[in-house]
Amino acid sequence: MNKFQEMYQAKKKTPEEVAMYVKSGDVCACPTGLEEPTAIVEAVGARAMRGELTGVTHHATLAVKGGPYMNPELAGKYDYVSWFTGAPGRKVIQDGIYTYIPSNYSNIPGYWTNVQPRLDVFYAEVSPMDEHGYFSCAMAGAEVVAMRDKASIILLDVNDQMPRVMGDCLVHISQVTALCESSRPLSVLPSAPLSDTDRKIGQMIADEICDGSTLQLGIGGVPNAVGVLLQDKKDLGIHTEMFTDSMVDLIECGAVTNMKKPIHVGKTVATLAWGSKKMYDFMDNNPAFEMYPVSYTNNPYVIAQHDNFVSVNACIEVDLFGQVCSESIGTKPYSGSGGQLDFVRGANMSKGGKGFIAMTSTAKGGTISKIKPVLTPGSIVTTPRTEVDYLVTENGIVRLKGQTARARAKMLISLAAPQFREELEFEAKKMNLII
Ligand code: COA
Repeated sequence: MNKFQEMYQAKKKTPEEVAMYVKSGDVCACPTGLEEPTAIVEAVGARAMRGELTGVTHHATLAVKGGPYMNPELAGKYDYVSWFTGAPGRKVIQDGIYTYIPSNYSNIPGYWTNVQPRLDVFYAEVSPMDEHGYFSCAMAGAEVVAMRDKASIILLDVNDQMPRVMGDCLVHISQVTALCESSRPLSVLPSAPLSDTDRKIGQMIADEICDGSTLQLGIGGVPNAVGVLLQDKKDLGIHTEMFTDSMVDLIECGAVTNMKKPIHVGKTVATLAWGSKKMYDFMDNNPAFEMYPVSYTNNPYVIAQHDNFVSVNACIEVDLFGQVCSESIGTKPYSGSGGQLDFVRGANMSKGGKGFIAMTSTAKGGTISKIKPVLTPGSIVTTPRTEVDYLVTENGIVRLKGQTARARAKMLISLAAPQFREELEFEAKKMNLII
């Protein structure tokens, strides 16, 4: 047994014992998504439920495991603070039981380093320790370094099914306060079949992407369709926020080589991952895959170093000025700002770069136009009109950047579903946008 293994044995406890390190009033945080340490969070939740804890907060980005801190019964005892809301926490955020912190994804590590007054507990689910004493936070490098270096206490849930990845997402046994062990399959992102509309929109975007481009693809049907439709391209690169299954397919079929990238040549770079077991196996011990802090991956100046950078993201609503809402439905919070603006900005600054925002032209079975004269009151602007580049619906693709307000309004009306165009024209005339 080497000295790191001795330290490991000395720090090994049950989840219940690990949870005893959390005290009333503590600020706790874990990295994005699947990095939430299930066994520890459940044990802390059980303590809160028994009345042993009050005033503990759990900070999380894209909390997809639905942990006990989302339970309204624990309000005031173990409170959820969301930095980007996924499906499980949406209702308690929309109902105002718990709250959220608005932030571009790239800024979150800096907020922990420079703005948040304290972080008492950093906890995460990690891969088994290597012979040098390191654990990897394989599913999200996003906030790891900032949280690790700020926290007073570090608690780990060592899951023997967690892959081990390269990059800057490590915790060393010497930094750890206590750990427990578990063996749990990682949650798999359900894959929905691509609709004809997704394919139609995806094809229009794929046609705009040249060989040698570097890609960021967001979450959802259209970004997935773009991934599927790029298999005939050559020498693509990946520098993305979320690593997805369609990217694994692009690497395996040879369309992605990462060889034209100016940095991380030959390597795929991401800040979080969520997909299939096949994807997790691909990431495991793969020297051609690296996970980095989101303050690095999503930094527009880093993104802009890649010529022909392409970002593809989705949205909820666009107005005739070109303002894009991607995170709320009116006043109702839906998700979060995430990295959309980070990547639109990076693509804007890249030589030959293109930022695509894609959506179907209607919602709710064709009854609502997603292109509106003005945004629905309360809608949050995720990408301002001054940054928006391409917009795409099943009715076409337009480039708003550098266009007059009048031309933009006309282009946007052309993207709307035919049954809404007349009304949009009428409203555009009332606003003197078109004559
Ligand atoms: N008015 C009313 N409801 C609308 C609407 C509109 N204009 N647009 C969408 N909706 C509803 C849909 O009907 C759907 O409702 P349902 O859940 O009851 O079916 C819901 O909102 C979600 O819409 P959908 O188009 O299915 O969303 P999605 O899962 O494809 O996600 C975003 C799209 C924009 C919410 C998502 O990409 C996001 O959160 N983006 C912000 C962050 C980001 O882009 N990050 C960078 C990449 S990771």
